Amino acid sequence: MALLEVKNLKVHFKIEEGWVKAVDGISFIIELGETMGLVGESGCGKTTAAYAITQLLPPNGFIKGGHIFFKEPSRVTELRRKYDESLKGASSNARRKEIARVTKKLDPLRGEQRRLQEELGKLQQQRGRAPESTASPAALKKRLDDLATEAGGLEDRLSALTYSYDLLRISMRKDGSLDDYNEKIRKIRWTEISMIFQGAMNAFNPVFKVGDQIVEAIVLHKDVSDDEARERAKELFEFVGVGPDRIDNYPHEFSGGMKQRAMIALALALNPSFIIADEPTTALDVITQDRILVEIRRLQEQLNMAMMIITHDVSVVAEVSDNIAVMYAGLMMEVGKTTQVFKNTAHPYTAGLLGSFPSIKGKKKRLISIPGFPPDLVNPPSGCPFHPRCQYARQACQEGRPKGVEVEPGHISYCHYAKELWDELRRRE
Ligand SMILES: Nc1ncnc2c1ncn2[C@@H]1O[C@H](COP(=O)(O)OP(=O)(O)OP(=O)(O)O)[C@@H](O)[C@H]1O
Ligand SMILES: [Mg+2]
Repeated sequence: MALLEVKNLKVHFKIEEGWVKAVDGISFIIELGETMGLVGESGCGKTTAAYAITQLLPPNGFIKGGHIFFKEPSRVTELRRKYDESLKGASSNARRKEIARVTKKLDPLRGEQRRLQEELGKLQQQRGRAPESTASPAALKKRLDDLATEAGGLEDRLSALTYSYDLLRISMRKDGSLDDYNEKIRKIRWTEISMIFQGAMNAFNPVFKVGDQIVEAIVLHKDVSDDEARERAKELFEFVGVGPDRIDNYPHEFSGGMKQRAMIALALALNPSFIIADEPTTALDVITQDRILVEIRRLQEQLNMAMMIITHDVSVVAEVSDNIAVMYAGLMMEVGKTTQVFKNTAHPYTAGLLGSFPSIKGKKKRLISIPGFPPDLVNPPSGCPFHPRCQYARQACQEGRPKGVEVEPGHISYCHYAKELWDELRRRE
């Protein structure tokens, strides 16, 4: 079942010169218990995508379109896709009409449910006395069960039509800004979706003990005593490999690696089902980096937690991700299983990105870096934003924005010439 489905998400920042199109229509899916690596050069919009999901965008960040479906039951997802397909191109009126039609069917069922529930309650209260109603409790219960099934089907339809599992629908204001104080979102953030911030080194407040900061986070969201929360914090310290006796240390008494581990402990504190780790290893030396990656793998195995790991270091994703999404200039370039993207690369940008990183285990090859620089996102290039740097670019690449091409099951390349490139790269192997 999909845990998270990001669909055509657009996030732009308002600045004096205009709008920075930081995320300009990206889509991906993360399944329960899976890890996805989000990679791409600096400034391509990775952190912005994460902030849209956790709804922590700065005040000049606006949602310009798209959806973020979280924990939507698969039956609703199926219905939603069917509706999207059948209502494609139709006016928003058609959707409104369909919502009205379903609601009209659902309302009397809800009414009857309430009535039968009351009747059942009364019957159960007057047990032993002469019954007012002729209905038997068993028959009423059966009827209620049937009604629940029928109403449930209609509720699912309504959810699908109104996108009720869309986090953006819950908290987005008319102008596209997010109300990050929204009660529902606050319940989800940290308890369901948590985030290890880029630059975690500075995420702890220097004047409070590290353990106390974790205890505070737990007590704030869960109905537990300080002592219970302290026990949990100690357990978490142990889990991430920091001695529980360090709980009363201040952040400056921790090494970089320990701070990073403590940050992971903080992200885990409330048992979220999904963690976004933004460059969890970038600021660390190679040995500590490796240890943190081992830790992350252990988390995946023991807690079966879904993760999104953001990094510009493809060797990190290769080690810990089931899937990879490659971003460039606010857009997706390639999405697929890690093995597919590494072995059967189907986008020139990914090929360049992989070429610019030395392979540790694979055979030695000459490093080719991608010439040029990522574009200005206020005035991005027309068509495919990668075309000015792409050695395969042709006329068409300057025109339309590439649509996703499924080059093999679950492996999508957003390149006009994905199929040709695919053949070309396979030929060279
Ligand atoms: N608050 C903001 N106001 C204006 N522009 C912003 C803001 N935050 C980010 N940007 C711009 O949006 C684009 C995407 O930034 P983002 O931080 O998402 O990139 P990133 O992929 O996480 O990069 P890095 O690998 O360096 O962390 C960049 O061009 C950045 O300058
Ligand atoms: Mg970033």
